[in-house]
Amino acid sequence: MKFGHFDDRNREYVIETPHTPLPWINYLGTDDFHSLISNTCGGYSFYKDAKLRRITRYRYNNVPRDVSGRFYYINDKGTIWNIGYLPTKTDLDSYECRHGLSYTSFHSSKNGLDAKLTCFVPLKDNCEVNLVSLTNTSAKSKTFTFYAAVEFCLYNAVDDANNYQRNLNLAEVEIDDHTVYHKTEYRERRNHYAFFYGSVAHDGFDTDRNVFLGLENGWDAPEAVTKGISFNSVVHDYYPMACHRYDITLKPGETKNLIFVLGYVENNPDEKWEAKNVINKTKAQAMQKRYSTLAGVTAALKDLKDYWDALLDKFVVKTGDEKFDRMANIWNQYQCMVTYMMSRSASYYETGTGRGMGFRDSCQDLLGFVHLIPDKAKERIIDIASIQFEDGSTYHQYQPLDKKGNADIGSGFNDDPLWLVGATMAYIRETGDTSILDIPTPFNNVKGSEKPLYDHLMISLMHTINNKGPHGLPLIGRADWNDCLNLNCFSTKDGESFQTVENNDTHVAESVFIAGMFVLYGSDFVELANYIGKKEDAKLIEKEVKAIEEATVKSGFDYDGGYFIRAYDAYSHEVGSSKCEEGKIFIEPQGFCTLAGIGKDKGLGKKAIDASFKYLLDDWGCELLYPPYSTYHVELGEISSYPQGVKENGAVFNHNNPWLTMACCVEKEPERAFQLYRLNAPAYIEDKSDIHKTEPYVYSQMIAGRFSKSYGQAKNSWLTGSATWSFVALSEGIMGIRPQLTGLEIDPCLPKEMTDVTMERTFRGCHFHIHVSNKPGNKATIIVNGKEQASKIVTLVKGIKDYDVSVTMA
Ligand code: GLC
Ligand code: GLC
Repeated sequence: MKFGHFDDRNREYVIETPHTPLPWINYLGTDDFHSLISNTCGGYSFYKDAKLRRITRYRYNNVPRDVSGRFYYINDKGTIWNIGYLPTKTDLDSYECRHGLSYTSFHSSKNGLDAKLTCFVPLKDNCEVNLVSLTNTSAKSKTFTFYAAVEFCLYNAVDDANNYQRNLNLAEVEIDDHTVYHKTEYRERRNHYAFFYGSVAHDGFDTDRNVFLGLENGWDAPEAVTKGISFNSVVHDYYPMACHRYDITLKPGETKNLIFVLGYVENNPDEKWEAKNVINKTKAQAMQKRYSTLAGVTAALKDLKDYWDALLDKFVVKTGDEKFDRMANIWNQYQCMVTYMMSRSASYYETGTGRGMGFRDSCQDLLGFVHLIPDKAKERIIDIASIQFEDGSTYHQYQPLDKKGNADIGSGFNDDPLWLVGATMAYIRETGDTSILDIPTPFNNVKGSEKPLYDHLMISLMHTINNKGPHGLPLIGRADWNDCLNLNCFSTKDGESFQTVENNDTHVAESVFIAGMFVLYGSDFVELANYIGKKEDAKLIEKEVKAIEEATVKSGFDYDGGYFIRAYDAYSHEVGSSKCEEGKIFIEPQGFCTLAGIGKDKGLGKKAIDASFKYLLDDWGCELLYPPYSTYHVELGEISSYPQGVKENGAVFNHNNPWLTMACCVEKEPERAFQLYRLNAPAYIEDKSDIHKTEPYVYSQMIAGRFSKSYGQAKNSWLTGSATWSFVALSEGIMGIRPQLTGLEIDPCLPKEMTDVTMERTFRGCHFHIHVSNKPGNKATIIVNGKEQASKIVTLVKGIKDYDVSVTMA
């Protein structure tokens, strides 16, 4: 069952009912100011950091769900409704919500009043703009009251939800007839405030939530709104909010536009005040002015759309498969950009108060946006490398506001350093800019400790080399990519963090997955080192790659089961092999080791793919492991703490399915690659939205597996590495467009139904127009600007900006 439809021309998903199985959200903002917005107008805003600069309040785990947000009420002779349906839940005569690229719009109506609302964060300002248009579609004149309201958060979202003894005494605002300024704590140590502005002078206002709602009411029935009045309350403690009231009369056919701006302003410490206790509003007023007219708002919205058009023009495919094109050209790239901006910080499932930026997650996210915003990718790589230690290990996370490593989590995830090599390679291959390797980059952010980024890559690899276990395979440490495979944790106390507790690290537990990573990224590094003339380093790493590859072929493959083993635990027992009672096979090494080409000459990759399809495949993709653990295994950790078929214990973890898709491409199995790609790609499963439940336009972290009672139900949408890796599988695997050091490789792996494919790709400032004629067979003829060439890699020629490439497969 569907709850809406895609509108590809406008790059929107159109939600046709407020009754979606879960709130279906979108993200507004492209730089520092961000908002989350659901299809019922819920959500919240923050500046840069969802924990430390929360502007509006949101209540997670609330009942009823999702009632914090932007509140636009209409009281039409006692019928009270919201443009976005919640919080009043009044049935609407019509409802539509369109989630577009960084904007969301609503269109609803009730009793002859038509309401439109468009919400976006402009490119250049720290604010969310909401444009409201109200039209009287009835035959008679209409008089009603309109309310626009937001609830402020006291900036630090954790303190806001904890420290009531202090923060219920702080609230301060200033008010004029257009704007409420929220200045709590501004008089002492904060140099910033928020405001809520209305383009038309209001007829009444409220700023005290207790007064506005009335003591016993919720947001579904504020006393001011139900009475059709305002109390003109001035908050001085408890809960600050902003509400503007308008008494409106519209003639038949008449429209009234109102613009609201939720803004954030920082002032220099010596320019904070206009007069004693009166905040300096210069910047705020300049911002308000820019959005005070319809023309200003329309122009800003157009700029935003132009920005997205320009970005997405860099990679466009036309395959004849509408759903594939929709994912490729719109939604998958969009989700990659959102994960770039949010990391794992703020979603409807990540509260924005916990994880900062993850080392591993951020390195992988980068693979999905480096072609769109390479400069930002460069910056990100340096930020990430700066939390590394001199022995190559690294903090697992950092806070975006100060960029310092997070000491609470610390280090010890042995996959982390290798992701840095992968991310840097992707950047250099995309841009050709090897100068990034020379950038002096500190360790643990300590001034004076800087070494060229190149050295960071080298020590990342050395870290694996220096930390091998009894089988010559890399030690796993606290965990590798699979955060829940905690082989040194041995946790028996409730509340202990599986990620940080190590009760039994004997330096024995090994990871075959990290072996796959080392072989893949180590080989990449060898190519890079040779390319820039560091022959000695190349030789050294090449030798080590060989050693780990041999160790994997010898001890990392289950020759009875016919697939890669997952790990060795602290007793050197196999994990994820046919010898195990449960958890006999894991997906991660099948994908990654095949991708790395380990044992290719012996056909190990082919076998691993066969086994994955045999044991792991369900209706939604390949499950993470099979069969799931039914009891707690102290020697395995968190993975066995989840119900069977859920999360890492045997769900389809969308993040690692693309590794297998890509592995299928490496092994030249286009049909299987496409089969797997389609199973979890949002556009292909839209009509199962009632089962899948999360948004049908983005990936979620997981989809419950066969052993779960909620088989097919997805969880944790938006902020997941699934976005990036699915895009990499789509663009580099199936479409076969792979940036290489020397040029752009074109090596498609297309299913037979894609007979004619065109692609537009911007690469190092040049434009590639690629046409592929796909007939059965594996031989490709490549013609570049009229000349046939033997290599699949198209090298750039000085002075030539346009490349017309025709590939004929036969
Ligand atoms: C989550 C984490 C990611 C980890 C994955 C598997 O998605 O963000 O770092 O690799 O789970 O455990
Ligand atoms: C839990 C989750 C995992 C996540 C980790 C870190 O272990 O299962 O997906 O990566 O927490 O937050």
